[in-house]
Parts: sequence; C-alpha cells; structure tokens
Amino acid sequence: MNKLIAKIGVVTVSDRASRGEYEDRGGPAIVDWLSATLASEYEIVKRLVPDEQTEIEQALIELTDKQACCLVVTTGGTGPAKRDITPEATLAVSDKVMDGFGELMRSESLKVVPTAILSRQTAVIRGETLIINLPGNPSAISDCLNAVFPAVPTCIRLLDGPELQVKQKTTASFSPSIK
Ligand code: MTE
Repeated sequence: MNKLIAKIGVVTVSDRASRGEYEDRGGPAIVDWLSATLASEYEIVKRLVPDEQTEIEQALIELTDKQACCLVVTTGGTGPAKRDITPEATLAVSDKVMDGFGELMRSESLKVVPTAILSRQTAVIRGETLIINLPGNPSAISDCLNAVFPAVPTCIRLLDGPELQVKQKTTASFSPSIK
C-alpha cells in the first residue's frame, strides 16, 4: 500500500450515466463531500460503469489490487430493481463484510427518507481496501458519509493504510477514536 498519498476510488454505477444519457451527479457529489471533509492529501480515481456485475467487480478489483486505493466509494445500484447489482458485486470481491456500515447508513438515512429501507448498501474489506456502497441519489451521499466516516480513518489505519485526516470544522462531529 502506497503510504505517501491516499488514493480514493469513486465508482458510479449507472446504466444511463455510462451510456451518456444522464449526467453523473453521484460521483461528483462524493468528490465534493471528500473535498469539504478531508484535510490530508489524497488522489481521486474515478470510474463509471453500467449495472453489470462483471464490470462492477472488475472496477472494484482494479481500484483495490492495481490502483491500491485505501478507500473505494460506490454510488448507485443498491436498490431492489432488476438491474440493481452493486451489493452482490461488492460482496463477490470481498474478504470481510463490515455489516455495521450498512446498518448505520440505513438507520441514519431513515431519519431523512422512509425509502432508505430499500437500499441494500453494504461495506466490505478487500485486501487493504475499505469499499463502501452508497445509494444513487446524490443527497444520500452526505447522509451516509456523515454517518459512517467517523470510523473510516480508524478502519484504514487498522488495515495499515495511509492516515486520513479530516478538517478541523468537521472533527468535532466526527470525533474518530484513535487506536
Ligand atoms: N438513502 C438516502 N439517504 N437518501 C435517499 O434518497 N433513496 C432510497 C434508498 N436510500 C435514498 C436512500 C431509495 S428510493 C432507493 S430505491 C435505494 O436507496 C436504492 O437506491 P439506488 O438503487 O440508487 O442505490
């Protein structure tokens, strides 16, 4: 794992955005949220893939094994619709399932939208990488990342990854535990 600069993968999963019929708003919303939150240096690696299990898995494997991202955040494809397959692709490439992330994201999102129960979003570890699924609605990105990000720097540290530091104005609400 490259300790000098943290690489963060951002994967938009959308048939329509990948065909160019629809502007990708989820990926940029994740990038904006990270920019507003992280104080330490990092590099974003973006991917845009259709709702195809093989293509999602390939993107996740490339971002983890080849790009050595310490964190990969996906958006879209977590619902019950026929084409929604992101959690299955994520679980297929996982070494460990981090159930608490999905539980917390859903319970916090339920305070905002009753349909949060429809997301099957999860989080897993592959090698030294934490992969987190977010729903496709751009407004879900801050709901979910605000909820779980306090645990992310600690999780990445426990995976021997780079130090992720959050900006001062956000640290009070995050208060990550240092181990
Ligand atoms: N969670 C939050 N915070 N905000 C949302 O708007 N949308 C819900 C749910 N979780 C939503 C949310 C809806 S309507 C669906 S269908 C599921 O996420 C799955 O969305 P996805 O298939 O785009 O991933």
